[in-house]
Amino acid sequence: MKEKILQALIENNTYISGETLSHQFGVSRTAIWKAINKLKDEGFEITSTRNKGYLLTKESEALNAEGIKVHLGMTTRFKHVKVYDSVDSTITEAKRLKINDVYDEALILAHVQTAGKGRRGRSWVSAKGDGIWSSLLLAPDIAPSKAPMLTLIAGLAVCRAIKDQTALEAQIKWPNDVVIKGRKVCGILTEMSAQRDYIEYVIVGIGINVNQLEFGEDIADIASSLRLLSGLEVNQMTLLVRMIEEFEMLYNTFIKEQSLDFMIQDYNDACINIGMELKIEAYGKTQYGVGIKVSNDGQLMVKDKNNDIFEVNAGEVSVRGLYGYVD
Ligand code: BTN
Repeated sequence: MKEKILQALIENNTYISGETLSHQFGVSRTAIWKAINKLKDEGFEITSTRNKGYLLTKESEALNAEGIKVHLGMTTRFKHVKVYDSVDSTITEAKRLKINDVYDEALILAHVQTAGKGRRGRSWVSAKGDGIWSSLLLAPDIAPSKAPMLTLIAGLAVCRAIKDQTALEAQIKWPNDVVIKGRKVCGILTEMSAQRDYIEYVIVGIGINVNQLEFGEDIADIASSLRLLSGLEVNQMTLLVRMIEEFEMLYNTFIKEQSLDFMIQDYNDACINIGMELKIEAYGKTQYGVGIKVSNDGQLMVKDKNNDIFEVNAGEVSVRGLYGYVD
């Protein structure tokens, strides 16, 4: 009911009476009034005027499921959107929802994660309301070997959404991070459950540092937030919706074409590792070289000092600049 009322208020940008709403949805005016109050509690600014009815004057900037669903519209694959006040990790929650047969595809968010997961067994700081702690539960019809490509799709989607919503020049640090001015603003962690030749589910966990004003000592010289970098508070709702729209556009084409060919040029243009001296650590081995390009199958191609080219898989790998996190 809340979602339908919100949709009516958004579509009708003038006053709409309680009576009209109650006829439209076949419920009492008290039920309408209660739903309006719930929306107000969630941060929507709604003016109620005698004889005129309700007017939405400002949408909530805090992540909320009703607003997300209304803005994603009818064609989204994310028909199920859940926003928790607090959860251990949206990845873990998405996994539980899948394993318990609740959803096959869903968008899971939380205002706080108490056990946010980062790559390589690290934790991910996910304080209340500061960022977008999202997980996309997916059932892609692709070979398991192609699942890491979804991380690249998410990276490009985040980059585009950030550029669109702020004036910031976001870049991708292959394969999992989005960086701005050398600082990490987003990390992506993709988990999969698969049989030998088919995928049961994939969860793409995307954490974006949006409005933090400070970071703990351990990450202060690597991490930053869109707010710190732009000097402006960023509307999380608009950023999230933009990111999901970008993700879906890329994802749908990828599933149809079963390849990254259509986006690899854009990806390379946004990739910070290209032309950079790199230190690559994977499976206990350290290699050095210069990033040449990301190949159509999502691997980073690197040239070593003998001009030999080797490929790095987007698995459990650390790619850094020679001197620091990026350069
Ligand atoms: C990294 O180490 O850079 C990856 C971080 C991924 C963080 C996100 S926040 C939403 C989702 N839930 C988690 O527990 N982790 C991912």
